[in-house]
Amino acid sequence: MSDNNAKGFSHASVETNNFLMIVLILIAVAFGGLVEIVPLFFQKSTTEPVTGVKPYTALQLAGRDVYIREGCYNCHSQMIRPFRAETLRYGHYSVAGESVYDHPFQWGSKRTGPDLARVGGKYSDEWHRVHLNNPRDVVPESNMPEYPWLAKNGVDGTQVAANMKALRKVGVPYTDEDIAKAEEDVKGKTELDALIAHLQGLGLALK
Ligand code: HEC
Repeated sequence: MSDNNAKGFSHASVETNNFLMIVLILIAVAFGGLVEIVPLFFQKSTTEPVTGVKPYTALQLAGRDVYIREGCYNCHSQMIRPFRAETLRYGHYSVAGESVYDHPFQWGSKRTGPDLARVGGKYSDEWHRVHLNNPRDVVPESNMPEYPWLAKNGVDGTQVAANMKALRKVGVPYTDEDIAKAEEDVKGKTELDALIAHLQGLGLALK
């Protein structure tokens, strides 16, 4: 011990000096993080969309906002892990290229309810309509909350267009034309229509 201490920058002096220990831990963690994270920004498989993945339509995008506002992510993940139990239940595991247009992504890990990454096309629109209005009408044992107000609220078209403009700034390839007709696309639609359009589009590209 005393020998070690004498050298100044020894194992013992690192372990007995709180401040030095904290600084070195931070450097080690930061380095480890950078090595894992930075390459992802340059890997095609994480930055380019999987074939078939398109930006959300105006209606789907409005539905996605409802999904986030209502906190559906508190009970539902949108990420299928690469394990047999998961792929048997939900289908192909999720890949990064499916989420390139998601800002913010909805992967999550909390699963009070099932994963929704590939729920698109699993049920009819009518099933979702009934289920979202009162889940117990189709799944008697469900403890999912009901969302009856969604059918009564209209979608705000100007908000959708503004969202599309903002998303374009972070790389979602919406054209001027997409944005110009966003308001028209969601005209007369309810939040329930939008949310169902969003759910029905989830995970179709890699089904
Ligand atoms: C308190 C937790 C909770 C919240 C919040 C919640 N859910 Fe659920 N959800 C569940 C549970 C539990 C189930 C399974 C039983 C059922 O089908 O109702 C489920 C099932 C579902 C299903 C059927 C999935 C399948 O593969 O069968 C969909 C779709 C769904 N939820 C959508 C939503 C949406 C959209 C929201 C937000 C508006 C939401 N959920 C909010 C708990 C929740």
